[in-house]
Amino acid sequence: MSLTSLLDLELTVPDPDALAAFWTDLGMESTGTATLGTAQRPSQLRLAEGTYRHVSELRLSCESESDLPTIAASLEAIGVASTIADGVLSCQDPLGDHRVVIEVSEPLPLVGPEADEANRPSGRSRLDRRSAAALATAPPAPRRVGHVVFGTPDLAGSIDFYTKGLGWKVSDMVGPGIGCFMRCSPDHHNMLLMPAPVPCMNHYAMEMDDVDAIGKAGSKIVAERPESQVYGLGRHVLGANLFWYLLDPAGGMFELFADMDQITDDEQWETEERRDDWDPFTIASWEPGPATPDFFLPSDIDAIAAAREAMGR
Ligand SMILES: [Fe+2]
Repeated sequence: MSLTSLLDLELTVPDPDALAAFWTDLGMESTGTATLGTAQRPSQLRLAEGTYRHVSELRLSCESESDLPTIAASLEAIGVASTIADGVLSCQDPLGDHRVVIEVSEPLPLVGPEADEANRPSGRSRLDRRSAAALATAPPAPRRVGHVVFGTPDLAGSIDFYTKGLGWKVSDMVGPGIGCFMRCSPDHHNMLLMPAPVPCMNHYAMEMDDVDAIGKAGSKIVAERPESQVYGLGRHVLGANLFWYLLDPAGGMFELFADMDQITDDEQWETEERRDDWDPFTIASWEPGPATPDFFLPSDIDAIAAAREAMGR
């Protein structure tokens, strides 16, 4: 695979300062004017100001400089124009509101806690000392942005853009025509595409260390803003990730996730695991109760549609 990772997202919102304050309160660092990250991954979310909430750029990495003209040719074959300048390929998602930029870079290191100690029936590894998770007073910062979910008015067209044009791989499909989980890295999914009346972001997802990190951050958010609760804590079936879905101050849904399936042998997954006929109700292995409607479609979708129209989109 020439694509190697999702590097970061640019989120455009009416009040980027409020969104930056929200994430810095959860341990992220603000570098530059509106870039949120951590010491290991300084750029995870870039914030911009605009009239309505949407993802405005998706930044990906690829293996080598020679991948860029290959991707440009694939895009041209499906009628999408792109440019290559200073080692970066840029194009517009023809069915979305965001640019896609691809640059040559190594996937950034992923750093977690030093020890993953647990006392399970199968083995006790934390002996004669207290649990760091139990004693922690603040949640650790998100480690990276892991995936994004877009609603699209043309699911088949969007799938073609990402797979045939950019080289993403399909991991699973919810069918028929309900959703497509795809990857540009070993993660089970770095993107999910699902139908929507107008292009929109369903959610962005931040990887946390483990269930404790999700629980500690999620419960802090809900304690401060109970109306932010959407769905969770639970574990998905597709991707197997632990999840907790919440609303950020801009009204955008985000997911705190951990422990996602990893695909390192594409052929093995393709022949043994991938399914294109998942039942749409195959959402959670376990959950605390049903999701609010925001889980399926932003509750302010009419305002998003009106703002897009006002911009001539
Ligand atoms: Fe997700």
